[in-house]
Amino acid sequence: MEPVAAVHADWVGEALGIELTRTSSLPLARRLYRALRSWVQSGRLASGCRLPSSRRLARELGVGRNSVLDAIDQLVAEGFLEPRPGAGTFVADLPFGRIEAPAEEASGGGAPRAALSPRGERLLRFSAASGGHHEAFPPGVPALDRFPRELWERLLRRHQRRAPDAWLDYRTQGGVTALREVLCDYLRLSRSVRCRPEQVLVVQGAQQGFELIARMLADAGDTVWMEEPGYGGAQACFDASGLALVPVPVDGEGLDPARVPSGHAAPRLIYVTPSHQYPSGVTMSLARRLALLEAAETHGAWIVEDDYDSEFRYDQRPIAALQGLSESARVIYVGTLSKVLYPGLRLGYLVLPESLVEPFRRANARLHREGQYAVQAALGEFIAAGHFSRHVRRMRDCYRRRQALLRRVLAPAVARGLELSQGQAGMHLVAWLGDRALEAELVARGAAAGVTLSPLSGFYLEAPGRPGLVLGYAGTRDDEIRRAGRWLAETWLALVEERAAATNVPG
Ligand SMILES: Cc1ncc(COP(=O)(O)O)c(C=O)c1O
Repeated sequence: MEPVAAVHADWVGEALGIELTRTSSLPLARRLYRALRSWVQSGRLASGCRLPSSRRLARELGVGRNSVLDAIDQLVAEGFLEPRPGAGTFVADLPFGRIEAPAEEASGGGAPRAALSPRGERLLRFSAASGGHHEAFPPGVPALDRFPRELWERLLRRHQRRAPDAWLDYRTQGGVTALREVLCDYLRLSRSVRCRPEQVLVVQGAQQGFELIARMLADAGDTVWMEEPGYGGAQACFDASGLALVPVPVDGEGLDPARVPSGHAAPRLIYVTPSHQYPSGVTMSLARRLALLEAAETHGAWIVEDDYDSEFRYDQRPIAALQGLSESARVIYVGTLSKVLYPGLRLGYLVLPESLVEPFRRANARLHREGQYAVQAALGEFIAAGHFSRHVRRMRDCYRRRQALLRRVLAPAVARGLELSQGQAGMHLVAWLGDRALEAELVARGAAAGVTLSPLSGFYLEAPGRPGLVLGYAGTRDDEIRRAGRWLAETWLALVEERAAATNVPG
C-alpha cells in the first residue's frame, strides 16, 4: 500500500477502509488500533497529523463508533495519539515517524533499474542522465531570470479568472482561437509561413508535435531522414515511435539529400532545422531547400521543419521558413515557446497542411488531450499586446552580449587552436575538437569543476561523431560565463601543453 501522506486526515479513512478489506480473525477495534499504530511507527502518519473525528471515521468505515473510540483511546493511552481539546486528535510528536529514503536513493545512487522493453532501453540512449545540471553551459536553455514574471503572472491570473466554463471541458478546437490567430499573424509576417489560424494546432511543446506527426504519418519500420548530427529530442521521439532513423550528413549548407546512405526504403518523414541547424548552427542554403522539397515530392514524404530558435539572429536578416517556399504543402512547420519564453511552459504548435488539420486535431485530442486554455489565452494577449516582441528584442540583445562575452573569455584558447562555430544566431556555440580523447577529457574535467560541457559526438546517430563541445550561453549568467569560460580556456591551454610535452618526450 502507498504511504498515507503526511498530514492528510482525509485519506486516513480511506486507508483504514482498505485495511479492513483484508481478512482477519481479530476484533474490529484491535485491527483499527494495529493499523494506526503501525502507520505512526513507520512514519506513514507523520507527527502532527490530525485524525478525522471518531464519528466521521465510523461513518466512512461503516463500523460502530465504539470500535473506533476503543482503538483511539488505546493509542492515546499509549502516547501514540494526543487529544487537543477543541481541535481534535493528533499524531503525537514522536522520535520515529520519519519516512527514510531507501539507502541508495539517499546516497544518490537511485533504485536498481527495472527490466525495460527494448524500446525503453533504446530511449534511454537518447536521454541524458538527470542531475549534474550546472549553471554553465547547458544547451537550449533561455535566460530564465530575464522572463517578465510579474507581467506574465498578472496575465495568467486575469485569464484564469475569466475562463469560460467551456474551457473546463474536453475540447477538440486545436487550441484557443485568439492564440492561434496571433500566432498565425506572427508566423506569416516574421517567418513567411503560409497559414490560416485554422491550420495551427497548439500542442504541449515541439516534442509532442513530433510524436503526433510520427504516429499519424508513419508506421513502425518506416524511414525518417534525420540530420547528422542532430537534435536528440526528435531522435528519441521518432525512434520510440518505431521508425527507422537514417542519418543524413549535414555540411555547410545543411542536410544534403544527395548524401542519403544507400540501402534504405524511401522516407516517410524528413526532419530538418533549416533556419539554424541543431547543433551545428548552419543555415540551410536555398539550393538545398529546393532540393529537399523536390526529394519530398519524389518520395511522397513529409518534411518536418523544426523552427525552434529562429527569433535569435544577430548579424543576419531573418531567414524565411522552408514551409513558405513549398507550393505542394508537404511541409509541417513546428514551433515552440520553449526558447523564446521558457521550457516549463510546455507550449508549442504545428502549422498543418489543410488536409491534415482535422485528422491531427482529432488524434491529438484522443492521444494527448487538449488543455491549458487559460495559459494559451494569456499567451495570446502576451503576443497581441507586444510583450512577446519586446521580450524577443531584449533576449536577442542579451544573447548577443553573452555570446560576445563567451568569445572574449575563450579568446586565449582560440589563439591556441580552439575552433568556435560562427554563431550568427542561436543560443549556443560549438567548439570543434581534434579528437574524441580530448572531448572525453574536457567533459570529465568539466563535470568535476561544475561546468556542463555537452559532447558533440553525442548528437550523432552513428559513431564516431565529430568531436566537439556544445556550449549553451543564453541561459548562463554573465559572471558564470566568465568563471566557466576562463576555466575552459585554462583547461584547454593546459591540455594543449600536456599533449605537446607528451609528443616531445624523447625516446
Ligand atoms: C532543435 C530543437 N527543437 C525543439 C526544441 C524544443 O522542444 P520543446 O518544445 O519540446 O521544449 C528544442 C529544445 O531543446 C531543440 O533544441
